[in-house]
Order: sequence, then structure tokens, then C-alpha cells
Amino acid sequence: MNYRLLGKTGMKVSEVSFGAWAIGSSWGQVDDRESLSALHKAVDLGVNFFDTADVYGDGRSEKLIGQLLRERSETIYVATKAGRKISPHVAEKYTPVVIRKFVEQSLRNLRVEALDLLQLHCPPPAVYYMPELFAGLDDLVSAGKLKNYGVSVEKVEEALKAIEYPGVRTVQIIFNMFRQRPAELFFREARSRWIGVLARVPLASGLLTGRMSRVTKFRSDDHRAYNRKGAAFDRGETFSGVDYAKGLQAVEELKAILPNGMPLSQVALTWILMHDAVSCAIPGAKRPAQVEENCGASDGHRLSRGLMRQVKDIYDRLIMEDVHQRW
Ligand SMILES: NC(=O)c1ccc[n+]([C@@H]2O[C@H](COP(=O)([O-])OP(=O)(O)OC[C@H]3O[C@@H](n4cnc5c(N)ncnc54)[C@H](OP(=O)(O)O)[C@@H]3O)[C@@H](O)[C@H]2O)c1
Repeated sequence: MNYRLLGKTGMKVSEVSFGAWAIGSSWGQVDDRESLSALHKAVDLGVNFFDTADVYGDGRSEKLIGQLLRERSETIYVATKAGRKISPHVAEKYTPVVIRKFVEQSLRNLRVEALDLLQLHCPPPAVYYMPELFAGLDDLVSAGKLKNYGVSVEKVEEALKAIEYPGVRTVQIIFNMFRQRPAELFFREARSRWIGVLARVPLASGLLTGRMSRVTKFRSDDHRAYNRKGAAFDRGETFSGVDYAKGLQAVEELKAILPNGMPLSQVALTWILMHDAVSCAIPGAKRPAQVEENCGASDGHRLSRGLMRQVKDIYDRLIMEDVHQRW
């Protein structure tokens, strides 16, 4: 496993890290014992950074990671998120007092004294124009409750605005073969300010593993069944906002250009890591075998310029029109 600095946080994180949404909720049924095995497998393979949120199973994901922390002696960093419990989810309800309450709950779920990284969890855009909220986060750092804070965003423009706050040290954004716009301007800005970048939904909700087809069935409690059109939350979070049939077509073209013997999932993660502005990719996983395959992407392997051009061509022809100017 290779490691990269997460911006100014001082944390050196595994370039393939672990996204812990699926082990909490919204991805069909999960078994806590299997989830814990997946978490342990990740640590065995050198993963030292886990991304979760208070809303993933209402604390279920955070508590599993808390258990992992107690069962392992290695240095493990945890990033969590707050804000999505606010209901209705409107900017006016974001206050320092409310965020502090969420932080206290996450500290209890994880059973730690301070959070390594707290991210605002895709707040309404107006929140980025509320300096008092960011001042409240600075206060939580001074109080020793947070070691670092950052944001998780839907759109490039939200990221650009967020990093104008000097206290914001990280940005989490959707970046993968099907969501290439962050590489255009945002990465340059992020690098110039030494911002840590977490690439989320790196496998386009599993599409970029190449294991899905027209007949793949998703349980009714899996967002890949109920959120394709954005019925429950931003539709960009499901298959990166790409139409499923079109995504499958692009995947077929990607499979045809894979370097010998490399699974598409590893090529997809390596493609992300080819961008120096990225600190880590955070693929979600429910099972140890998935973790093993995903960690295989951090073997120092690079993709050729020719392959990078072919991926860009597939994106330009099949995907760009649907996503590029939306996020
Ligand atoms: N708003 C936010 O801040 C936000 C939103 C979304 C995600 N995130 C974070 O980003 C992380 C990653 O995104 P994501 O989980 O949405 O999507 P993802 O990483 O693109 O896809 C994860 C899913 O793909 C499948 N998968 C993973 N590795 C595989 C492999 N090697 N072979 C076959 N299937 C594999 C698994 O589902 P199946 O086995 O069920 O197919 C897994 O749950 C999340 O866990 C979360 O931490 C944050």
C-alpha cells in the first residue's frame, strides 16, 4: 500500500482507503460480522483511513469503525461527516450549536476524544456563504473536539468556494472515469492551496467493476434501485448520475481496452490515482474479497498515456453530455 499526505492535516493516508457507507445503510442488507471482516481485511492490507458519516445507518457505520479502532493497534484515521440529520435540510438550520451536537454524538459512536476529520456532509450551497458556521468549526478545533475539518461537496463550484475558508483542509468530491470535471480546474486550485482531496464513488457505485449487466437485480432498499432519478438524494450519488444503460455501454468499451489481466475495478482506481491532486480514493466495500481487489490498485502500477486518452475518449463520447455540466 502506498500513502499520500492528506493536504495540511499531517495525516499520511493509504491511497486506497475505505468508504463505509455501504456497511451502514442504503445498499441492501448487510451483515455486521462480514462488514467487520472487510474492515479488518483493509487494515491487514495497509488501509489506515476510513470515511464514514453519522447518518450511515444512524451511527451503525461509525460504531463498527469504533469497534475496529478498539480491536486494532495500528494507527487508523477516521473521517466522519455531519449535517444530513438536519430536517428539513436547509441552510438556515445549519448553526454551530447544531453541528456541535452532531460532533458529540459521533465522538460517542466512535468512542474517541477527538475526530481526526469532520466533513460537512453535502450541505445546501448557501452554507458556503455562512462564515459564522466555519468559525464554529474553528471553535470546535480550539476546544479539542476536532483535529481537522473539511467538506464533502456535490459540485465543483461548491468545492472552489469552500476552499476559500482557511480552516478547510480537505474536500471530498465524486471523481472517477465517469466524473472527470474536477480534474479541470478544481484540482489545480486544490493543489495550490495544499488541500487534501478524497475521491468518492470511485467505482460509480459498482458500475466500474464491470460486474453489472442489464439483468443485475438490486434490492428495493438499495439506492441503486430507488435513487436512479434522485428520488431520495442527489442523483449524482447513484452510478455517478450516469444513466445505467449508457454506463453499461461505456463499461463494455472500457473492458475492451484493459491492460492484460487487470480487473476493471483496479484500472478504475488506478486511473484516479494517476491524478496527483488526489490524496486517496475511498471505494466502498462490504466484503473482504472486494477490499482485497480494490487494494490491489495501490501497487505503483501506472496507466499508459494511450490508455488515459482512450478513457477520455469514451467519456467524451458517451458520458460527458449527461454529467459534465451538472456537477
Ligand atoms: N455525500 C457524501 O459525502 C458521500 C456520498 C457517497 C459516497 N460517499 C463516500 O464514498 C464512499 C465510496 O462511494 P460509494 O460507496 O457510494 O461507491 P463506490 O465506492 O463507487 O462503490 C461501492 C460499491 O461497489 C461494490 N464494489 C466495491 N468493490 C468491489 C469489487 N472489487 N468488486 C465488485 N464490486 C465491488 C460494492 O457494492 P455491491 O457489492 O453491493 O455491488 C460497494 O458497496 C462511500 O462508502 C462513502 O464513504 C460519500
